[in-house]
Amino acid sequence: MAAQILDGKALAQELRAGFKERAAALTAKGLKPGLVVILVGEDPASQVYVKNKVAACEAVGMYSEKLVYPADVAPAVVLNKIAELNADTKVHGILVQLPLPAHFDEAAVLEAIAAEKDVDGFHAENVGALAQGQPRFIPCTPYGVMKMFAKGGVNLSGKEAVVIGRSNIVGKPMALLLINAGATVTVCNSRTRNLAEHTRRADIIVAAVGKPRFVTADMVKPGAVVIDVGINRLPDGKLCGDVDYESVKEVAAWITPVPGGVGPMTITMLLANTIEAAERKAGI
Ligand code: GUN
Repeated sequence: MAAQILDGKALAQELRAGFKERAAALTAKGLKPGLVVILVGEDPASQVYVKNKVAACEAVGMYSEKLVYPADVAPAVVLNKIAELNADTKVHGILVQLPLPAHFDEAAVLEAIAAEKDVDGFHAENVGALAQGQPRFIPCTPYGVMKMFAKGGVNLSGKEAVVIGRSNIVGKPMALLLINAGATVTVCNSRTRNLAEHTRRADIIVAAVGKPRFVTADMVKPGAVVIDVGINRLPDGKLCGDVDYESVKEVAAWITPVPGGVGPMTITMLLANTIEAAERKAGI
């Protein structure tokens, strides 16, 4: 039997309708939620992500601004701007698009953002809060995946979960969220021996490796829930995920498509975090 689809596009639309109302309520109090996105350099994928983030904010009635710096900008310029934004009351969320050029100390930039405006959830304080099971801001992609589990009625407690990828943006926070939800979690990476032995045991697989169609049907236990975080561009220009969708959908119970799966949820949860930041500021 073919897998049921966890439709991120539909869920994103549903959630965003609620955000519009919350943004309008804040705006009526003179507290329009605001997000500033900082982009350094001209990475084409980052340019698209940033454009989509700003457009999504505006579509739900939030204030949004994009600040673009050349790839060779001095880190101090960006750090000074972050300090200014930290003090700016109309800005509730600050996001620095990653990756940054090599001459930046990425961790120092993320730490410079005020923790209460860190809507990416990458500041050490927010990472620590998540690790302790008391999250303040949850990183957007894994947060979106958790919303998809909830929508599909996927119970995580007591389940075997395998996360493929250990990035700070997806793999690590995903693992923490699954741990907090009571799953037994294995985090695999490019050096993992016998990866398929791990994935074949899993009730839940989250693939965040950045390799097109890396997870194949023979790696998946029948009835598993398979979440595809990958967005890979093929030589013909088409997008595909880290999961071989056509074969895996015949084995899995639930699967996310690419596009239309996790992708739309990432930006949706960025909006959620920014509105949440504004509501906290307003004492709501
Ligand atoms: N680069 C890729 N994904 C992300 C993300 O979620 N946030 C930021 N800031 N940069 C990214």
